[in-house]
Amino acid sequence: MTVIAIDGPAASGKSTVSRRLAQRLGFAYVNSGTMYRAVTWDLLQRGTDTASAVVIEAALASTDVVCGIGKNRESFIRINNSNPDEALRDRSVNRHVSLVSAVPAVRALISSRLRALAQDCPLVMEGRDIGTAVFPETPYKFYLDASPEIRQQRREAEGGADQIADRDKLDSSRKAAPLKIAPDARVVDTSHLTLDGVVDAILDLLRQSGIAPK
Ligand code: DC
Repeated sequence: MTVIAIDGPAASGKSTVSRRLAQRLGFAYVNSGTMYRAVTWDLLQRGTDTASAVVIEAALASTDVVCGIGKNRESFIRINNSNPDEALRDRSVNRHVSLVSAVPAVRALISSRLRALAQDCPLVMEGRDIGTAVFPETPYKFYLDASPEIRQQRREAEGGADQIADRDKLDSSRKAAPLKIAPDARVVDTSHLTLDGVVDAILDLLRQSGIAPK
């Protein structure tokens, strides 16, 4: 089993870097944030009170989650037979996803699905707790960071409303698998690097561990 874990705060460049890195290595790409967003979207659709962990946990009993790796070598998720992709960046999902993902039962559900994905093929997986909680045993851990100003600018440039400082605070302070730097992670500051600059820096480090592009 080979998993390259890419963790970091919102808008640190994880998605673009992880997708490109996966392409360069010929690995599948898994965006774990979309899984938490999909669960959040489904709960909101059903009018669930996202402020109550007890209510969320009860709602999970009637939540059917199917996820896998698609033909494009990227992860997908279907929830209660729906494809939530179009709604995952909605303002309401942005506002509620940190509350929902702080619930231990939600984390247990998603983490077990993420672990199952790694049985089938080598992965680049991005998230908040991939190196600390989902695959603590992987030797390939990276933590991407950038200054708060640059991250906010990047998110605004993408359009849409996202209070990333609020999410980061909640994601870092929750009890269950908070966002933090794994002691054995390599930290890459992406503030002043190009996309290819970050990918090349990670590939250089991976080559030293025997993993190289095909
Ligand atoms: O990567 P993202 O910004 O799309 O993630 C959305 C939210 O999902 C993030 O604010 C916290 C949660 N998340 C998490 O708790 N653990 C992960 N491994 C990935 C995301």
